[in-house]
Amino acid sequence: MRLLITAGPTREPIDPVRFLSNRSSGRMGYALAEAACEAGHEVVLISGPVTISAPEGVQFVHVETAREMFDAVQIYLSGCDAAIFSAAVADYRPVHFAAQKMKKTADKLTLELERTEDILGSARSQLGFQGFLVGFAAETENLIAHAQEKLERKGCDMIVANDVSQAGIGFDSAENEVTLCLPGGRTIALPRQSKTALARVLIAHITQLSAPNDPK
Ligand code: CTP
Repeated sequence: MRLLITAGPTREPIDPVRFLSNRSSGRMGYALAEAACEAGHEVVLISGPVTISAPEGVQFVHVETAREMFDAVQIYLSGCDAAIFSAAVADYRPVHFAAQKMKKTADKLTLELERTEDILGSARSQLGFQGFLVGFAAETENLIAHAQEKLERKGCDMIVANDVSQAGIGFDSAENEVTLCLPGGRTIALPRQSKTALARVLIAHITQLSAPNDPK
């Protein structure tokens, strides 16, 4: 099958030398891309700026901002059978971009921010995607309830739920421990493991659940 994967952070520019971003390393998304290639799938990897290299064999699309990621997803999504949105997309961007480097003046500075495109949330509603849709949810409380709500609200087939209040897993670390949330309130808890091992398990579940004869 052909899979689209988003990965890494986005950068939302403030001026020519500054941006808003987050600590996402891209490791989970890149591990998923590698595992999917290993399993014989075709992969389009749409990634924000990270320090790791793209796995061999993927079709790689580099983006910087949420808007660029949205535009790239819009281009590549229609030919895909499944999409995994693992990117840590910035939820807000500065309303104004200063063309020249901002100088410090007053003691306090307020940046006005606006919402970015909700890429996962647009996949069904705006982009008309009909394939198997997987989102990630990073939560610090009520993990499963929030993930189930996100699953329904965004029309997903699976949410990979991540308890980011636990040290040593998730954001910017080598290991992860997640629960898969599926329609009908079904959940599958996966043990803590390296992102490489977890990626193989996730790709196996996604391959099986997205098979045409699977009742989901
Ligand atoms: N996501 C996205 N585009 C955005 C923000 C998030 O595609 N602008 C995707 C992420 O890649 C992830 C999922 O949405 O798969 C969950 O992101 P999160 O920010 O936790 O979701 P929200 O619904 O925005 O939830 P919250 O209310 O907790 O911010």
